Amino acid sequence: MNFTITRTIKAQQKLSRSIIAKGKTIAIVPTMGYLHEGHLSLIKQGLELADVVVTTIFVNPAQFAPNEDYARYPRDTRGDLKKIRAAGGQIVFMPKAADMYPDDFQTYVNVEKLTETLEGGVRPGHFKGVATVVAKLFNIVQPDFALFGMKDYQQAMVLRRMTTDLDWPIKYLICPTVREKDGLAMSSRNSYLSPAQRREAVALYKALMAAKKMAQNGQIEVAPIMFEMRRVISQTAPSGKIDYIAFTEMETLKPVTQVVRNMVISLAVRLGPVRLIDNLKI
Ligand code: PAJ
Repeated sequence: MNFTITRTIKAQQKLSRSIIAKGKTIAIVPTMGYLHEGHLSLIKQGLELADVVVTTIFVNPAQFAPNEDYARYPRDTRGDLKKIRAAGGQIVFMPKAADMYPDDFQTYVNVEKLTETLEGGVRPGHFKGVATVVAKLFNIVQPDFALFGMKDYQQAMVLRRMTTDLDWPIKYLICPTVREKDGLAMSSRNSYLSPAQRREAVALYKALMAAKKMAQNGQIEVAPIMFEMRRVISQTAPSGKIDYIAFTEMETLKPVTQVVRNMVISLAVRLGPVRLIDNLKI
């Protein structure tokens, strides 16, 4: 299939219908652009599963609070298109905000319990915006498969809940976090870091590795692991401010006080104006 860019909802709906009519399967990789190897790993995984991968690029205003970085979110459409094409992605859907959210727009998707903690606790309304846009993208693109990154662990859980609760017949995949050489999780927002902040940013990964080591060495209490993570972060990133460190049960996101199977440690750290998140399944 030729590399195709769709810029309107109607054009993408028409294209998806024609692909489905030919008996072909579609995988969707929703993104906000400024693509890196993490995004490309989702596209490559999608190509293993489906005949056609639709990558969506849309900086979604509904998931940014007024004090957040919507206006200055990094954008590089030309670079993104090149990367998607080189990775083998066939279709890129790039709608306009005014088409996705016309003036009289008033319908939102709200996932309840899973959105109350972690990122949802610190960024009220964020997941309502995420769920709403992904619901719209599912309806427009009509995928058989949807791929999301473990990097945004709570988002992946919330959207999986939504997919199940709203009965989309979509196979849902959560892919591993792709990291820089020093362990920093790749993120479009890493481009905001100054060279000094970039050096400090490895603190999140270092803290997660320290936690993993303690758990592997038999520490079952969460409190001393948390204490050690805070120490590692203050040592490696003296200018860092910890938003939260959380130990939760993988599926429910309920907090745990002892190390259990299927536990995820997640954390959010601010370095100047940049907010970084990471997590590790233990
Ligand atoms: P964005 O931050 O662009 O991320 C798009 C997808 O790439 C998400 O599923 C995210 O988890 C995944 N991703 C990001 N960094 C990754 C990494 N280092 N390794 C593996 N996967 C990674 O997440 C969003 O956009 C938006 O909230 C969106 C779902 C598109 C809704 O607007």
